[in-house]
Amino acid sequence: MEKYQADELRYENGMKFKRCGRSGVLLPKLSLGFWHNFGGVDDYGRSREITHYAFDKGVTHFDLANNYGPPYGSAEETLGRLMDDSFRPYRDELFISTKAGYDMWPGPYGNWGSRKYLISSLDQSLKRMRLEYVDLFYSHRYDPDTPLEETLQALVDIVRSGKALYIGISRWPLHALKVAIKYLREHDTPLLIYQGRLNLMDKSPLEEGIIDECSREGIGFISFSPLAQGLLTDRYLNGIPFDSRMTRGKFLRKEMLTDDVLARIRHLNEMAARRRETLAEMALSWILSHDAVTSVLVGASSTEQLEKNLKCIDAGPFTDDMLDAM
Ligand SMILES: NC(=O)c1ccc[n+]([C@@H]2O[C@H](COP(=O)([O-])OP(=O)(O)OC[C@H]3O[C@@H](n4cnc5c(N)ncnc54)[C@H](OP(=O)(O)O)[C@@H]3O)[C@@H](O)[C@H]2O)c1
Repeated sequence: MEKYQADELRYENGMKFKRCGRSGVLLPKLSLGFWHNFGGVDDYGRSREITHYAFDKGVTHFDLANNYGPPYGSAEETLGRLMDDSFRPYRDELFISTKAGYDMWPGPYGNWGSRKYLISSLDQSLKRMRLEYVDLFYSHRYDPDTPLEETLQALVDIVRSGKALYIGISRWPLHALKVAIKYLREHDTPLLIYQGRLNLMDKSPLEEGIIDECSREGIGFISFSPLAQGLLTDRYLNGIPFDSRMTRGKFLRKEMLTDDVLARIRHLNEMAARRRETLAEMALSWILSHDAVTSVLVGASSTEQLEKNLKCIDAGPFTDDMLDAM
Protein backbone atom coordinates (compact mmCIF):
# COMPACT_ATOMS: atom_id res chain seq x y z
CA MET A 1 0.00 0.00 0.00
CA GLU A 2 1.36 3.38 -0.99
CA LYS A 3 2.12 5.76 1.87
CA TYR A 4 -0.26 8.73 2.01
CA GLN A 5 1.26 12.17 1.84
CA ALA A 6 -1.34 14.93 2.25
CA ASP A 7 -1.50 17.62 -0.41
CA GLU A 8 0.70 20.51 0.65
CA LEU A 9 -1.88 22.90 -0.74
CA ARG A 10 -4.75 21.40 1.26
CA TYR A 11 -5.59 24.73 2.89
CA GLU A 12 -5.31 26.62 -0.39
CA ASN A 13 -7.58 24.34 -2.41
CA GLY A 14 -10.71 26.42 -1.93
CA MET A 15 -12.07 25.21 1.41
CA LYS A 16 -13.57 27.88 3.63
CA PHE A 17 -13.75 27.53 7.38
CA LYS A 18 -16.43 28.95 9.62
CA ARG A 19 -16.43 29.64 13.34
CA CYS A 20 -18.61 27.19 15.22
CA GLY A 21 -20.98 29.41 17.17
CA ARG A 22 -19.14 31.56 19.70
CA SER A 23 -16.28 29.09 20.19
CA GLY A 24 -12.64 28.85 19.27
CA VAL A 25 -13.32 26.07 16.76
CA LEU A 26 -13.38 26.61 13.01
CA LEU A 27 -15.04 23.89 10.94
CA PRO A 28 -14.82 23.35 7.18
CA LYS A 29 -18.05 24.42 5.47
CA LEU A 30 -18.29 20.86 4.17
CA SER A 31 -17.63 17.93 6.50
CA LEU A 32 -17.58 14.19 5.80
CA GLY A 33 -19.88 11.66 7.46
CA PHE A 34 -19.08 7.97 7.98
CA TRP A 35 -22.66 6.65 8.33
CA HIS A 36 -22.49 4.81 4.99
CA ASN A 37 -19.56 3.68 2.80
CA PHE A 38 -17.09 3.14 5.67
CA GLY A 39 -18.42 -0.06 7.25
CA GLY A 40 -16.94 -3.54 7.41
CA VAL A 41 -19.07 -4.44 4.36
CA ASP A 42 -17.56 -1.65 2.27
CA ASP A 43 -14.38 -1.69 0.21
CA TYR A 44 -11.61 -0.31 2.44
CA GLY A 45 -9.64 0.94 -0.58
CA ARG A 46 -12.52 3.15 -1.65
CA SER A 47 -13.14 4.44 1.90
CA ARG A 48 -9.46 5.32 2.09
CA GLU A 49 -9.53 7.07 -1.28
CA ILE A 50 -12.55 9.17 -0.26
CA THR A 51 -10.91 10.32 3.00
CA HIS A 52 -7.61 11.14 1.27
CA TYR A 53 -9.46 13.18 -1.34
CA ALA A 54 -11.46 14.96 1.35
CA PHE A 55 -8.48 15.85 3.53
CA ASP A 56 -6.52 17.04 0.50
CA LYS A 57 -9.38 19.48 -0.17
CA GLY A 58 -9.43 20.85 3.37
CA VAL A 59 -12.23 18.66 4.76
CA THR A 60 -10.79 18.44 8.27
CA HIS A 61 -13.94 17.21 10.04
CA PHE A 62 -14.95 13.52 10.00
CA ASP A 63 -18.19 12.56 11.76
CA LEU A 64 -18.85 9.08 13.17
CA ALA A 65 -21.09 7.28 15.66
CA ASN A 66 -20.65 4.11 17.68
CA ASN A 67 -23.10 2.12 15.55
CA TYR A 68 -22.12 3.26 12.03
CA GLY A 69 -21.25 0.32 9.81
CA PRO A 70 -22.60 -2.20 9.16
CA PRO A 71 -21.82 -4.06 11.31
CA TYR A 72 -22.10 -1.70 14.28
CA GLY A 73 -18.73 -0.28 15.28
CA SER A 74 -17.07 -1.05 11.98
CA ALA A 75 -16.99 2.54 10.65
CA GLU A 76 -15.01 3.45 13.76
CA GLU A 77 -12.72 0.47 13.09
CA THR A 78 -12.23 1.75 9.56
CA LEU A 79 -11.25 5.13 10.98
CA GLY A 80 -8.78 3.37 13.33
CA ARG A 81 -7.22 1.62 10.36
CA LEU A 82 -7.09 4.90 8.44
CA MET A 83 -5.37 6.58 11.38
CA ASP A 84 -2.60 3.98 11.30
CA ASP A 85 -2.35 3.81 7.50
CA SER A 86 -2.67 7.50 6.65
CA PHE A 87 -3.73 10.08 9.19
CA ARG A 88 -1.66 9.60 12.36
CA PRO A 89 0.80 12.36 11.34
CA TYR A 90 -2.18 14.66 10.79
CA ARG A 91 -4.11 13.91 14.00
CA ASP A 92 -3.92 17.51 15.20
CA GLU A 93 -5.26 18.76 11.86
CA LEU A 94 -8.38 16.60 12.16
CA PHE A 95 -11.60 17.26 14.06
CA ILE A 96 -13.13 13.84 14.76
CA SER A 97 -16.55 13.33 16.31
CA THR A 98 -18.43 10.29 17.49
CA LYS A 99 -21.77 9.71 19.22
CA ALA A 100 -23.78 7.39 21.42
CA GLY A 101 -27.54 7.31 21.86
CA TYR A 102 -28.98 4.62 19.59
CA ASP A 103 -28.85 0.84 20.02
CA MET A 104 -25.29 -0.42 20.16
CA TRP A 105 -25.10 -3.59 22.26
CA PRO A 106 -27.74 -5.87 23.78
CA GLY A 107 -29.30 -5.33 27.17
CA PRO A 108 -30.32 -2.21 29.08
CA TYR A 109 -26.91 -0.47 29.06
CA GLY A 110 -26.30 -0.29 25.30
CA ASN A 111 -28.85 2.36 24.27
CA TRP A 112 -30.33 5.81 25.06
CA GLY A 113 -28.81 8.36 27.46
CA SER A 114 -27.65 6.90 30.76
CA ARG A 115 -24.26 7.75 32.24
CA LYS A 116 -23.47 4.03 32.15
CA TYR A 117 -24.05 3.83 28.38
CA LEU A 118 -22.42 7.09 27.28
CA ILE A 119 -19.18 6.62 29.19
CA SER A 120 -18.66 2.94 28.35
CA SER A 121 -19.61 3.55 24.72
CA LEU A 122 -17.02 6.30 24.32
CA ASP A 123 -14.36 4.03 25.86
CA GLN A 124 -15.20 1.40 23.25
CA SER A 125 -15.22 3.98 20.43
CA LEU A 126 -11.75 5.24 21.34
CA LYS A 127 -10.37 1.70 21.19
CA ARG A 128 -11.96 1.04 17.81
CA MET A 129 -10.74 4.35 16.40
CA ARG A 130 -7.26 3.91 17.94
CA LEU A 131 -7.50 7.41 19.38
CA GLU A 132 -6.71 8.81 22.81
CA TYR A 133 -9.50 11.35 22.61
CA VAL A 134 -12.18 12.62 20.23
CA ASP A 135 -12.57 16.27 19.42
CA LEU A 136 -16.32 16.13 19.79
CA PHE A 137 -18.64 13.70 21.55
CA TYR A 138 -22.39 13.81 20.95
CA SER A 139 -25.47 12.60 22.70
CA HIS A 140 -26.99 11.11 19.52
CA ARG A 141 -30.60 11.53 20.61
CA TYR A 142 -32.83 12.84 23.36
CA ASP A 143 -33.83 10.26 25.96
CA PRO A 144 -37.22 11.13 27.47
CA ASP A 145 -36.80 8.63 30.32
CA THR A 146 -33.35 9.45 31.68
CA PRO A 147 -33.12 12.66 33.74
CA LEU A 148 -31.49 15.26 31.48
CA GLU A 149 -29.10 16.13 34.32
CA GLU A 150 -27.72 12.58 34.29
CA THR A 151 -26.98 12.68 30.56
CA LEU A 152 -25.57 16.19 30.74
CA GLN A 153 -23.37 15.51 33.76
CA ALA A 154 -21.97 12.43 31.98
CA LEU A 155 -21.07 14.70 29.04
CA VAL A 156 -19.40 17.21 31.39
CA ASP A 157 -17.42 14.41 33.07
CA ILE A 158 -16.35 13.02 29.69
CA VAL A 159 -14.78 16.38 28.84
CA ARG A 160 -13.19 16.63 32.29
CA SER A 161 -11.69 13.14 31.84
CA GLY A 162 -9.95 14.34 28.65
CA LYS A 163 -11.68 11.75 26.45
CA ALA A 164 -13.46 14.47 24.44
CA LEU A 165 -12.61 18.12 23.93
CA TYR A 166 -16.11 19.38 23.16
CA ILE A 167 -19.73 18.32 23.55
CA GLY A 168 -22.54 18.28 21.01
CA ILE A 169 -26.13 17.08 20.96
CA SER A 170 -28.13 15.72 18.07
CA ARG A 171 -31.87 15.59 17.48
CA TRP A 172 -32.83 17.00 20.88
CA PRO A 173 -36.14 18.91 20.95
CA LEU A 174 -36.04 22.65 21.61
CA HIS A 175 -37.07 22.48 25.27
CA ALA A 176 -34.27 20.00 26.02
CA LEU A 177 -31.75 21.99 23.96
CA LYS A 178 -32.49 24.98 26.21
CA VAL A 179 -31.87 22.90 29.35
CA ALA A 180 -28.62 21.56 27.85
CA ILE A 181 -27.29 25.02 26.98
CA LYS A 182 -27.92 26.28 30.53
CA TYR A 183 -26.65 23.18 32.34
CA LEU A 184 -23.49 22.81 30.29
CA ARG A 185 -22.69 26.53 30.57
CA GLU A 186 -23.13 26.43 34.35
CA HIS A 187 -20.76 23.47 34.47
CA ASP A 188 -18.02 25.17 32.42
CA THR A 189 -18.45 22.87 29.44
CA PRO A 190 -20.32 25.02 26.91
CA LEU A 191 -22.28 23.20 24.23
CA LEU A 192 -20.29 23.47 20.99
CA ILE A 193 -22.75 22.35 18.35
CA TYR A 194 -26.19 20.98 17.52
CA GLN A 195 -26.47 18.33 14.79
CA GLY A 196 -29.84 18.24 13.05
CA ARG A 197 -31.38 17.38 9.69
CA LEU A 198 -31.84 20.51 7.61
CA ASN A 199 -32.26 20.27 3.85
CA LEU A 200 -34.58 21.45 1.09
CA MET A 201 -37.00 18.63 1.91
CA ASP A 202 -36.90 18.94 5.69
CA LYS A 203 -36.81 22.41 7.18
CA SER A 204 -37.86 21.39 10.69
CA PRO A 205 -34.87 22.89 12.58
CA LEU A 206 -35.87 26.25 11.08
CA GLU A 207 -39.58 25.73 11.74
CA GLU A 208 -39.10 24.44 15.29
CA GLY A 209 -36.84 27.29 16.40
CA ILE A 210 -33.70 25.15 16.83
CA ILE A 211 -31.66 27.27 14.42
CA ASP A 212 -32.79 30.53 16.06
CA GLU A 213 -31.90 29.19 19.49
CA CYS A 214 -28.43 28.11 18.31
CA SER A 215 -27.86 31.48 16.70
CA ARG A 216 -29.01 33.44 19.78
CA GLU A 217 -26.95 31.32 22.16
CA GLY A 218 -23.77 31.10 20.08
CA ILE A 219 -24.03 27.37 19.41
CA GLY A 220 -22.88 25.98 16.04
CA PHE A 221 -25.27 24.03 13.80
CA ILE A 222 -24.24 21.22 11.45
CA SER A 223 -26.73 19.74 9.02
CA PHE A 224 -26.82 15.97 8.54
CA SER A 225 -28.25 14.31 5.42
CA PRO A 226 -28.08 17.70 3.64
CA LEU A 227 -28.82 15.95 0.32
CA ALA A 228 -31.73 13.97 1.83
CA GLN A 229 -29.57 10.83 1.42
CA GLY A 230 -29.11 11.49 -2.28
CA LEU A 231 -32.66 12.55 -3.23
CA LEU A 232 -31.45 16.14 -3.66
CA THR A 233 -29.02 15.18 -6.45
CA ASP A 234 -29.42 13.90 -9.99
CA ARG A 235 -29.25 10.29 -8.66
CA TYR A 236 -32.96 9.47 -8.93
CA LEU A 237 -34.10 11.75 -11.77
CA ASN A 238 -34.22 8.90 -14.28
CA GLY A 239 -34.93 5.82 -12.21
CA ILE A 240 -33.18 4.04 -9.35
CA PRO A 241 -29.52 3.20 -10.10
CA PHE A 242 -28.42 -0.32 -9.09
CA ASP A 243 -25.54 0.97 -6.95
CA SER A 244 -27.55 3.63 -5.05
CA ARG A 245 -28.53 3.85 -1.39
CA MET A 246 -32.18 3.40 -2.43
CA THR A 247 -31.39 0.06 -4.06
CA ARG A 248 -29.81 -1.10 -0.80
CA GLY A 249 -33.12 0.06 0.64
CA LYS A 250 -32.64 0.05 4.42
CA PHE A 251 -32.53 3.78 5.19
CA LEU A 252 -33.76 5.28 1.90
CA ARG A 253 -36.72 3.23 0.79
CA LYS A 254 -38.27 3.12 -2.68
CA GLU A 255 -41.64 4.19 -1.22
CA MET A 256 -40.06 7.54 -0.39
CA LEU A 257 -39.70 8.37 -4.09
CA THR A 258 -43.35 9.31 -4.59
CA ASP A 259 -44.64 11.24 -7.61
CA ASP A 260 -44.80 14.38 -5.45
CA VAL A 261 -41.20 13.96 -4.31
CA LEU A 262 -40.02 13.34 -7.85
CA ALA A 263 -41.89 16.43 -9.08
CA ARG A 264 -40.24 18.51 -6.36
CA ILE A 265 -36.77 17.15 -7.22
CA ARG A 266 -37.35 17.97 -10.90
CA HIS A 267 -38.52 21.49 -10.05
CA LEU A 268 -35.43 22.08 -7.88
CA ASN A 269 -33.19 20.55 -10.55
CA GLU A 270 -34.53 23.05 -13.10
CA MET A 271 -33.87 25.92 -10.71
CA ALA A 272 -30.30 24.65 -10.20
CA ALA A 273 -29.79 24.44 -13.97
CA ARG A 274 -30.88 28.09 -14.30
CA ARG A 275 -28.17 28.92 -11.73
CA ARG A 276 -25.70 26.82 -13.78
CA GLU A 277 -25.28 24.55 -10.78
CA THR A 278 -25.99 20.91 -10.08
CA LEU A 279 -28.93 20.18 -7.79
CA ALA A 280 -26.50 18.89 -5.13
CA GLU A 281 -24.50 22.09 -5.27
CA MET A 282 -27.61 24.28 -4.96
CA ALA A 283 -29.10 22.14 -2.17
CA LEU A 284 -25.92 22.41 -0.10
CA SER A 285 -25.40 26.12 -0.73
CA TRP A 286 -29.01 26.80 0.31
CA ILE A 287 -28.22 25.30 3.72
CA LEU A 288 -24.95 27.21 4.01
CA SER A 289 -26.77 30.46 3.15
CA HIS A 290 -28.22 30.42 6.69
CA ASP A 291 -25.92 32.46 8.92
CA ALA A 292 -26.33 30.13 11.89
CA VAL A 293 -25.22 27.06 9.93
CA THR A 294 -21.57 26.15 10.45
CA SER A 295 -21.17 23.20 8.08
CA VAL A 296 -22.97 20.66 5.89
CA LEU A 297 -22.22 17.05 6.79
CA VAL A 298 -22.33 15.10 3.54
CA GLY A 299 -22.01 11.44 2.74
CA ALA A 300 -20.26 10.26 -0.43
CA SER A 301 -19.86 6.89 -2.11
CA SER A 302 -17.16 8.19 -4.48
CA THR A 303 -14.60 10.96 -4.79
CA GLU A 304 -16.52 12.22 -7.83
CA GLN A 305 -19.56 12.94 -5.63
CA LEU A 306 -17.39 14.76 -3.15
CA GLU A 307 -15.78 16.77 -5.92
CA LYS A 308 -19.22 17.90 -7.15
CA ASN A 309 -20.44 18.65 -3.64
CA LEU A 310 -17.41 20.77 -2.78
CA LYS A 311 -18.51 23.25 -5.46
CA CYS A 312 -21.18 24.48 -3.03
CA ILE A 313 -18.52 26.42 -1.15
CA ASP A 314 -18.41 29.02 -3.94
CA ALA A 315 -22.04 28.94 -5.06
CA GLY A 316 -23.83 32.20 -5.80
CA PRO A 317 -26.33 33.98 -3.53
CA PHE A 318 -30.09 33.37 -3.60
CA THR A 319 -32.57 36.05 -4.63
CA ASP A 320 -35.81 36.40 -2.66
CA ASP A 321 -37.72 35.05 -5.69
CA MET A 322 -35.61 31.91 -5.69
CA LEU A 323 -36.03 31.41 -1.98
CA ASP A 324 -39.82 31.76 -2.35
CA ALA A 325 -39.80 29.14 -5.12
CA MET A 326 -37.93 26.63 -2.96
N1 LIG B 1 -27.18 12.76 13.93
C1 LIG B 1 -27.87 11.88 13.27
O1 LIG B 1 -28.83 11.29 13.76
C2 LIG B 1 -27.48 11.56 11.85
C3 LIG B 1 -28.37 10.91 10.99
C4 LIG B 1 -27.98 10.66 9.68
C5 LIG B 1 -26.71 11.08 9.24
N2 LIG B 1 -25.86 11.68 10.12
C6 LIG B 1 -24.50 12.14 9.68
O2 LIG B 1 -24.62 12.86 8.48
C7 LIG B 1 -23.77 12.27 7.49
C8 LIG B 1 -24.33 12.45 6.12
O3 LIG B 1 -25.60 11.79 6.01
P1 LIG B 1 -26.06 11.21 4.63
O4 LIG B 1 -25.07 10.19 4.16
O5 LIG B 1 -27.48 10.84 4.74
O6 LIG B 1 -25.87 12.56 3.73
P2 LIG B 1 -26.34 13.04 2.31
O7 LIG B 1 -25.20 13.91 1.87
O8 LIG B 1 -27.70 13.63 2.38
O9 LIG B 1 -26.43 11.73 1.39
C9 LIG B 1 -25.26 11.09 0.98
C10 LIG B 1 -25.56 10.12 -0.16
O10 LIG B 1 -26.12 10.80 -1.28
C11 LIG B 1 -25.53 10.34 -2.49
N3 LIG B 1 -24.75 11.47 -3.04
C12 LIG B 1 -23.94 12.34 -2.39
N4 LIG B 1 -23.44 13.26 -3.23
C13 LIG B 1 -23.94 12.98 -4.45
C14 LIG B 1 -23.79 13.60 -5.72
N5 LIG B 1 -23.05 14.68 -5.91
N6 LIG B 1 -24.47 13.07 -6.76
C15 LIG B 1 -25.25 11.96 -6.60
N7 LIG B 1 -25.43 11.33 -5.42
C16 LIG B 1 -24.78 11.84 -4.35
C17 LIG B 1 -24.65 9.15 -2.09
O11 LIG B 1 -25.47 7.99 -2.07
P3 LIG B 1 -25.25 6.72 -3.04
O12 LIG B 1 -24.87 5.60 -2.13
O13 LIG B 1 -26.59 6.50 -3.66
O14 LIG B 1 -24.18 7.04 -4.02
C18 LIG B 1 -24.26 9.51 -0.68
O15 LIG B 1 -23.85 8.42 0.10
C19 LIG B 1 -23.66 10.81 7.94
O16 LIG B 1 -22.54 10.15 7.38
C20 LIG B 1 -23.55 10.98 9.42
O17 LIG B 1 -22.22 11.36 9.75
C21 LIG B 1 -26.22 11.94 11.40
